[in-house]
Amino acid sequence: MLKKRFLIGFPTALMVGFILAGMNFPAFSAPLKIDTSPPLAAQSPRTRLLADFGWRFQLGDTPDAGQQFDYPENDRLYKALPGDDEQETKLAPLHPDAVKSQLGEKTSWVQPGFDDTAWRSLNLPHDWVVELPFDKAGNKDHGYKAIGPNIGNMIGWYRRTFDLPAEDKNKVLSVEFDGVYRNCIVWVNGHCLGRHLSGYGSFLFDITPYANFGGKNVLAVRVDATRNEGWFYEGAGIYRHVWLVKTSPSHVAHWGTQVISKIEGNGAKISIETLLKNGQTQRITLKLISSILDSSGKGVAESTQEIDSIPAGGEMVIKQTILLTEATFWSLENPYLYKLVSRVELGGKVVDSYETPFGVRSIRFDAEKGFFLNGKHVIIKGVCNHQDHAGVGIAVPDRLNTWRLEQLKTYGVNAYRPAHGPPTPELLDACDRLGLLVMDEHRRMGNTPEIMSQLESLVQRDRNHPSIFLWNIGNEEMSIQGSDKFAGTVAKPMQDLAHKLDPTRPVTVAMNWDFGKGFSKIIDVQGFNYRWNGYQGKKRADRSDAKGGFFDVDQFHAAFAQKPAIGTEESSAVSTRGIYETDRKKSQVSAYDVNLPRWGEADREWGSTAEGWWNYYLERPWLAGAFVWTGFDYRGEPTPYSWPSISSQFGFLDTCGFPKDNAFFYKAWWSDQPVLHLLPHWNWKGQEGKEIAVWVHSNYEAVELFLNGKSMGRQQISRNKHLEWKVAYTPGTLEARGYKNGKVVETAKVETTDTPARLVITSDSKTITADGRDVAVISVTALDNKGRPVPIADNLVSFEIRGGGKIIGVGNGDPNCHESDKASQRSLFNGLAQVIVQSTREPGNVKITASAMGLQAATADIRTEISTHPLPLLP
Ligand code: GAL
Repeated sequence: MLKKRFLIGFPTALMVGFILAGMNFPAFSAPLKIDTSPPLAAQSPRTRLLADFGWRFQLGDTPDAGQQFDYPENDRLYKALPGDDEQETKLAPLHPDAVKSQLGEKTSWVQPGFDDTAWRSLNLPHDWVVELPFDKAGNKDHGYKAIGPNIGNMIGWYRRTFDLPAEDKNKVLSVEFDGVYRNCIVWVNGHCLGRHLSGYGSFLFDITPYANFGGKNVLAVRVDATRNEGWFYEGAGIYRHVWLVKTSPSHVAHWGTQVISKIEGNGAKISIETLLKNGQTQRITLKLISSILDSSGKGVAESTQEIDSIPAGGEMVIKQTILLTEATFWSLENPYLYKLVSRVELGGKVVDSYETPFGVRSIRFDAEKGFFLNGKHVIIKGVCNHQDHAGVGIAVPDRLNTWRLEQLKTYGVNAYRPAHGPPTPELLDACDRLGLLVMDEHRRMGNTPEIMSQLESLVQRDRNHPSIFLWNIGNEEMSIQGSDKFAGTVAKPMQDLAHKLDPTRPVTVAMNWDFGKGFSKIIDVQGFNYRWNGYQGKKRADRSDAKGGFFDVDQFHAAFAQKPAIGTEESSAVSTRGIYETDRKKSQVSAYDVNLPRWGEADREWGSTAEGWWNYYLERPWLAGAFVWTGFDYRGEPTPYSWPSISSQFGFLDTCGFPKDNAFFYKAWWSDQPVLHLLPHWNWKGQEGKEIAVWVHSNYEAVELFLNGKSMGRQQISRNKHLEWKVAYTPGTLEARGYKNGKVVETAKVETTDTPARLVITSDSKTITADGRDVAVISVTALDNKGRPVPIADNLVSFEIRGGGKIIGVGNGDPNCHESDKASQRSLFNGLAQVIVQSTREPGNVKITASAMGLQAATADIRTEISTHPLPLLP
C-alpha cells in the first residue's frame, strides 16, 4: 500500500498531485534539494561488473555429454509454419526443466574443480565461427563457414572463474548475458541455472543460492549453434557482454522501470512505474526516491514515495508522476537524454540505486502524412543491418558498433532496423545518444510460451529507449501473414503483448506479400518489404489477385486509407565496391545504381535501385519512408552469387564500411551536406576509345564534366536523380565542377594513376581508452608516386603492431575474399583494407605499421589512455 508521496520540482519542474486510492494529493513546489555530490550513482550499493575478461574456451563438447543436452526444436526456426504450436506441444515432453532435472551437473566440464587451464584464454565478445575457414560444404546463407551438421564445430564451452568476497553474503547476485548465439546452458559451481534458446535476446540467472561467498566460483556455459534462427550469417558464442550484478535483497527489479513521457507545452508529464522486489525474509517498508537528472547530471525533479509494505519475497509496482514544466526534447538534431535514478531506502539507508536513461519526445504515425517526431514531419531514411562486421563477425566491440552508426549518419541515415532480431543493448544506447530512430525487431513469430517470453523480454528491456519508435514483430512470414486465422492466433496476441508492456509505440509486421490480407487487418502500421513484392511470380501488368490481396501499395492504400504504412525493407540493389563492369565469373557486380538481385527478369525482381525506390516513396507522403536493404554488406546470403562468394552485396557500404557509389546518392538526397561524387575510376588501361558511362551523384544545381580539360557538357540536376555522360576513354583526368547560384563551388576528379608506390594508413581516432575494449578502426590505401589513391590496387599488406594494442580483425570488403579475418595481413581490395586494433588495459603508445612488397611502408600512432569513467570489472 502506498502511504504518502511528495514531489519536488525546481527550477524547470513543477510538483503535481496525483490521484491515488481516491485521494487527490495537493501539488506544491519547493526549492531543489537533490544532492548531486557525490553523484547519485556513486551512493549505490548496486554494482554491475563487466565479466568480459578472463574466460576459457573450448570448441567441442564435454566427452561425457551423451544425449542429455539434446533439445529437439521445431523443424524451422527462422519462419513460422502453420503447425508450429502443435509441434511445440508434441516436443514439450522432450524438454524437461533444466534446473529441476539438474541438467549436466554430473558432466566433467561443468565441475568447478575441472582443470580448464589447457583451454584457450580469451575475452568476450567472442564469435568462434568467424575464426573458422571457409568451406564450400558450409551453409551458403551463413557465409560458407566450416560449421554445420556435415562438418562439425557447432558446440563450444566457456568457463570463467571468479572470487566473491565474504561481505557479498547478504546480496542478491545475478549473471546477465546481453546475448549468446545460441541454445546455451549455464551452470555456476556445478549447479544448472537454466537454458536460454534464442541467440538474440538478453537474459539473466540468479546465482545467489549457489554462490560461494568468500571463495572461488566457476561459471560454465555450453553453447550449441547446431540450429539456425536466420538465413544470414549468425556466428556462434558468447558474442555480447556478460555482467555480474550485485544488489541488496530489496531492489529495483531487472528491467524494472518504465518511463513514459508525454509532452505538454514546453514541458512534459513523466509517468514512472517501478517494480520493487523484497528479497528479505520479512515484510518491509521502503522509500522510493525517483530523481530526474538532466544531461549534465544535475537533478531537476524528484518524487518520493513511502511504501508500506511489501511481503517477504514479494514485489510491488509503484507509480509516480513528475511534471517538468520545461523539458528539452529528444530529437534527431539534439538527442537530449535525461536519466531517472531510482533510489530505494530501507530504514533510512539507501539500499539500491538504479538508472534509466530516457528521452522526452512524441511520436505519431499519420495514415495520410507519414511519421512525426515531436510534431515535426520526418521521412524515415532508414537502413536494415545484420550485426556482423569484417574481421570480428558478430563479436562487435561497442566502439565499433558506434562507429558503424556514425558512418551511416554521415550519409544522412536517420533510422536503423536491426535485422532480424533484438540488437545488443549497447547499440540502442548509441542510437539514443547519436539521434537515430530504431525499429526494434523481434526474431521469431509464433504464439508459444517460448516465443512470447522472447517478445516480453525484448519490450521490457528496450521500452525506455527514446530512439525506438516502432516494434516489428515479424519479417516475411510467408506461410501465415495472409491468413485471418493466424492474424488472430499469432499476430494479435503478439501485438497485444507489446501494447500491454508498452502502450506508447505502435506495432508493425514486415510483410512481403498478401498486402491487405491477414496480418494487414490487425497490425497498427502496415510494413511493406518491397513495394513490388506483390508482383512476385506474376507479370506487373496483371493486377488481379483471386485471393483478395493487393499487388501494390497504391491499391492497398486505396482500400486501407486509415492504416499508416512504412517500407520495412526496400531496395536490395546489389553492387561491388569499386567495380564498374559486372563479371559473373568473378562474382562481381557493377557499382552503378542499376543492378537488382534478379536483373533481366523484370517481372521477378524483388528490389529496386536506390533512385527508383526513393523517388517512388517521395511521391507518396502516406508512406512514412523506408529502410534500405542494407546499409552494410554482411556475411552470408551472398546474393547475387554463390560460392566462392561469401558475403552479400546489398550494402551501400561494404563489410568494412567503405562506401560504394550508392552511398553518395543517399548522402546527396538524405543529408544536408554538399555532395559531388564522380564514378567510375579512370584506370581503364587497354580500353582506350571505349565508351564509358560517367555518373555523378550530386545535390548541386548543375555539374559540368571535363576530360583532360575539355568540356563534356554541363547538365542541370533534377532533384533525387543522378547525372550521366558517355565518355570515350582516354587516360588522364576526369573532372566534375559543381555549380551553385551559377558559380563553380566545388570540383571533384578521378585520375588515371600509376602503379602503387606507397601505403597510407589512417586511424579513425588518435586516442583510445586503455580498457581492453576500445578499438581504433584503421584503413589502409595505396598511393602512386604522385600521391594519388590507386583504385585498383590489390597488394597484400602486412601489419605489425607495437605497444599496448592487438589486432582483432582484418577485412577489405571483397565479397569473394577467403583470406582469414584473424590475421596480421590482408590484401587490398580495390585500393582499400581495414584493420581493427583493440587497446589492452595498459596505457601507452601503439604503433601500427603497414607494409607491402615493393611499396613504402606507413605507420599510424595511437595513444591509449586510462579511462576517466572506467567500468567496474569482475576481478
Ligand atoms: C528480404 C529479407 C531479407 C533479405 C533480403 C534480400 O526478403 O527480408 O532478410 O533476405 O530479402 O533481398
